[in-house]
Amino acid sequence: MENNERFDEVDAWQTLMFLYSSALKRMNTKIEILNDEFLHIHNYNPIEHVKSRIKSAESIVKKLKRHHYDVTLDNMVQHLNDIAGIRVICSFTTDIYTIAEMISNQRDVHVIQIKDYIANPKPNGYKSYHMVVSIPIYLSDGPVDTKVEIQIRTIAMDFWASLEHKIYYKFEGNAPEHIRTDLKECADIVEMLDARMLSLDQLIQKHKATYFTSHLDEAKELLPQQENKIDSDYLPQKNPNSHL
Ligand code: GTP
Ligand code: MG
Repeated sequence: MENNERFDEVDAWQTLMFLYSSALKRMNTKIEILNDEFLHIHNYNPIEHVKSRIKSAESIVKKLKRHHYDVTLDNMVQHLNDIAGIRVICSFTTDIYTIAEMISNQRDVHVIQIKDYIANPKPNGYKSYHMVVSIPIYLSDGPVDTKVEIQIRTIAMDFWASLEHKIYYKFEGNAPEHIRTDLKECADIVEMLDARMLSLDQLIQKHKATYFTSHLDEAKELLPQQENKIDSDYLPQKNPNSHL
C-alpha cells in the first residue's frame, strides 16, 4: 500500500470513529432526557444507570475475521452493528419494554433490528432486549446514518451476564458441564427474583395509590398553601438598599 493510500485509510478510520462516538453521545443524551421526562411526569425513574463503549480496533478486526469478512472499513460499517454500544440497566422487566418503546418512538431513531432474549432467552439462560438502531449525525456536508447497538436489561440480568461473560472467556467458550448447569440455574433464579421484585413493587404502587385516595381531603387542604408558598417565592423581592 502506498503511503498516500495509508493516510487516506487512517483519515477514513478517524472519521468513522468520530461518527460512532457522536452517535453514542446523541443516544446517551436522548436516553438521559427520556429518563428525566419520565421522572418529571410519573415521578419514577425507569433507568438505574447507562454504560456505553466504542468497540476497540482489535475487537473489530477479530469479529470481522470470525465472520470471515476481509478487514476493510466497508465491511466494518456494513456488517458490524455493535461498534457503538449502549447498555441500559433498569430495575424491573416492565421498564425494559417502556424504555425500548420510548427509544423507538423518537422520530430520528430508525430501528434496524430487535432481538428479544427476554421473551426468548438463549439456551444458556441469557436474557436481555437488544436493539440495533441508526441515528443521523449531522456533519457539515449532510447527515450520516450511524448504527448503535442498545442492550436493555435488569440489574439482576446484568449481574448474571457479566459473570457468564467472564466464565465464557475463562474457558474459551467450553466451560465444564457442571458450570454451565450452575449458570443456567442461576439464570432461573434471576428470572424468579425479577418476577418477585416486580410484584413487590406493584404492591407498593397499589398501597401508595390507596394511601393517597384515603388521605385526599388532607392533601387538598395542604395544596393551596403549598401553591401560595411556591408563588410567593417567585414574587419580586423588594431590596431596601436599592434606589431603583
Ligand atoms: P455478537 O457476534 O456476539 O456481537 O452477537 P450477534 O451479532 O449475534 O448479536 P446478539 O444480539 O446475539 O449479541 C450481541 C451482544 O449481546 C454480544 O456482543 C454480547 O455483548 C451480548 N450477548 C449475547 N449473547 C450473550 C450471552 O450468551 N452471554 C452474555 N454474557 N452476553 C451475551
Ligand atoms: Mg457484541
